[in-house]
Amino acid sequence: MTRRLALLGAGLIGREHAALVAAHPGAELVGIADTSPAAREHASALGVPFCADYASMLDQVRPDGAIVALPNHLHVPAGLACVERGIPCLVEKPVAESVEAAQRLVAASERRGVPVLVGHHRRHSPDISEARRIVRDGLLGDLVAVNGMCWFDKPDAYFEAEWRRGEGGGPLLINLIHDVDTLRFICGEIDSVCAFTANAVRGFPVEDTAGLAIRFESGVLGTFSVSDAVASPWSWEFTSAQALYFPHQPGAYLFFGGRTGSLSVSDMYLWRHADTGGHWQDPLIREHRPLDRSRAYVNQLEHFLAVIAGTATPAITARDGMLTLAATLAVAASARDHRTVSVREIAAP
Ligand SMILES: NC(=O)c1ccc[n+]([C@@H]2O[C@H](COP(=O)([O-])OP(=O)(O)OC[C@H]3O[C@@H](n4cnc5c(N)ncnc54)[C@H](O)[C@@H]3O)[C@@H](O)[C@H]2O)c1
Repeated sequence: MTRRLALLGAGLIGREHAALVAAHPGAELVGIADTSPAAREHASALGVPFCADYASMLDQVRPDGAIVALPNHLHVPAGLACVERGIPCLVEKPVAESVEAAQRLVAASERRGVPVLVGHHRRHSPDISEARRIVRDGLLGDLVAVNGMCWFDKPDAYFEAEWRRGEGGGPLLINLIHDVDTLRFICGEIDSVCAFTANAVRGFPVEDTAGLAIRFESGVLGTFSVSDAVASPWSWEFTSAQALYFPHQPGAYLFFGGRTGSLSVSDMYLWRHADTGGHWQDPLIREHRPLDRSRAYVNQLEHFLAVIAGTATPAITARDGMLTLAATLAVAASARDHRTVSVREIAAP
């Protein structure tokens, strides 16, 4: 059965969603809502009905599902417009611009029983799913530590948009939020964080680099570093071959250390001693863990179609997305206030 989908916001990522829907045999794009002339032209080129007002578009086309790819502050109003009409929606990350706003969408979705799937696409990526399985199945023994980085170099033109130079427009809320979600997904809830940020490279009000220490509720400790001013291949975007507009540079960006073994992601090498009882003077054996060849964004769309059909519940609900947002905001608060911040403090203001 073909599901009729509407797209709210046909900018950078919205157009990618439109292309994914067009390529999927089980989905049809039946409407685009956007305020820009460029999006109107794009809708016309695709032969899809266009409307500047998303609420009117939802009423006119009554889609089976909607993809919300609007600026962050419109995620909650647009998500609510969908939920009020009983339309399941895929809301791009972050679920909201603040925890308070996210709570409104969580409440509406749960009260009305209308599913909201948050667009943390890595949850649908084979490397992340396999890493979760390896860690949770105990193949590394008890998890002790995790370490990772997200380093890439954004071009100067990226910062022409003023909002990217101010608070909320930097790598914490644009990029690190995906890694925070990945870490929560694999290692469980984050208890607290302690972070430093720097803006020395570009000198904008927003950070260009951050370093953080993480304590998970399980007691596992982690460290992570993010920068959009480093020329490097060490990010999920480069190493996974899953991201939409990045070259593939095989390698690793995330490392899980357990009592009896370690895992690097996305190259998926599992390191263990040949014999039980091995220690730091004994060699380790490297095993490559193969991945299925599925692709994160296609998997995400397929999952959304299953949510619409009622055969799956969202892999990441509005509530779950709110917790990822809260943990990321805790990083920002820690760097700003020069103190350790608990996620609970941010999640339940
Ligand atoms: N998951 C991912 O891989 C990924 C990648 C990029 C962006 N994102 C997220 O997607 C969202 C959109 O990001 P983007 O880079 O595509 O932004 P963008 O600015 O390129 O696109 C946003 C679109 O929304 C339209 N718009 C703005 N106000 C509107 C309104 N009131 N009504 C209707 N349309 C309106 C704009 O005209 C624009 O076309 C952001 O929340 C971002 O965080 C996610």
